[in-house]
Amino acid sequence: MVNIKWEELGFDYMKTPFRYISHWKNGQWDEGVLTEDNTITINEGSTCLHYGQECFEGLKAYRRKDGKINLFRPDENSKRLNKSAERLQMPAIPEDKFIDAVKQVVQANEEYVPPYGTGATLYLRPYLIGVGPNIGIIPAPEYLFGVFCMPVGPYFKGGLTPSNFIVSEYDRAAPFGTGAAKVGGNYAASLLPGQIAHDRNFSDCIYLDPATHTKIEEVGSANFFGITHDNQFITPKSPSILPSITKYSLLYLAKERFGMEAVEGDVRLDELDKFAEAGACGTAAIIAPIAGIQNNDDFHVFYSETETGPMTKKLYEELVGIQIGDVEAPEGWIFEV
Ligand code: PLP
Ligand code: COI
Repeated sequence: MVNIKWEELGFDYMKTPFRYISHWKNGQWDEGVLTEDNTITINEGSTCLHYGQECFEGLKAYRRKDGKINLFRPDENSKRLNKSAERLQMPAIPEDKFIDAVKQVVQANEEYVPPYGTGATLYLRPYLIGVGPNIGIIPAPEYLFGVFCMPVGPYFKGGLTPSNFIVSEYDRAAPFGTGAAKVGGNYAASLLPGQIAHDRNFSDCIYLDPATHTKIEEVGSANFFGITHDNQFITPKSPSILPSITKYSLLYLAKERFGMEAVEGDVRLDELDKFAEAGACGTAAIIAPIAGIQNNDDFHVFYSETETGPMTKKLYEELVGIQIGDVEAPEGWIFEV
């Protein structure tokens, strides 16, 4: 048995025994292998190093009460990775290859899948990078697809405890840029605004729509949702935000399981009063309640600075219950490892 204090885990890198790696060359993927080596050696001219030809995914494996292991909607991660790859002119990874790679990594590192009831999960990081000799701004001659994993706890400290966020003056993506793709460049652009927010003791920053700076787009590396006083579930719609799998799952659950009106639409900064509760959602973030948002000198509090709102709590319990196998999942959401 591995000796890990599961309840004390944060969101940090840990070397686990096995990772998967596959190589694309001459128009095709090789079989792929599991390896114990957590380093990769690539050509100095690799496009991922110079021109950001890189995309990635994030998903989790969940230990059930009966000891078995669930993946949550990995087919959606596969589809999104291929959309990101298409945007950056990289080869697609067949869905069965993607899911097989993820399952192999979970099985090979089974001891590191946190026990049921600890709140911790196994985070999986699939990535696709352009490699090989190159100097021109053209797609790479070769590609690597890898999947590695590690046990993690909450992404935002405190988990379901509300925390504060601050509106950034920076954008993470341009109106017709790569915001909807999960590509490294968006995250490089978010490092400075993220640091500024952390330096001021906020959990992360809020990005506004890059064209007008009047509407909320993202909450750091998570999507935003708000619950209005008349119980509507609203989440921003924009071509420059990342289409969050958690967000689409919550839209479905809000409507189908809680009878709420669930819509994607504008979340204007000058209309925050209409929300009774607000939160951030994503694979890493799960659901993180937003206590308040600082925008210049204005500090807007939603439900409470210390308590989680009732609908946020219900949505959290339903979502996590489905992921860990305690609550019946909508058809096709759970893949058993
Ligand atoms: N927004 C950004 C910028 C992200 O990096 C993520 C994480 O994947 C999300 C939103 C949430 O997406 P998902 O729910 O698919 O994890
Ligand atoms: C995720 O939620 O999986 C993310 O990718 C967010 C962040 C850790 C990059």
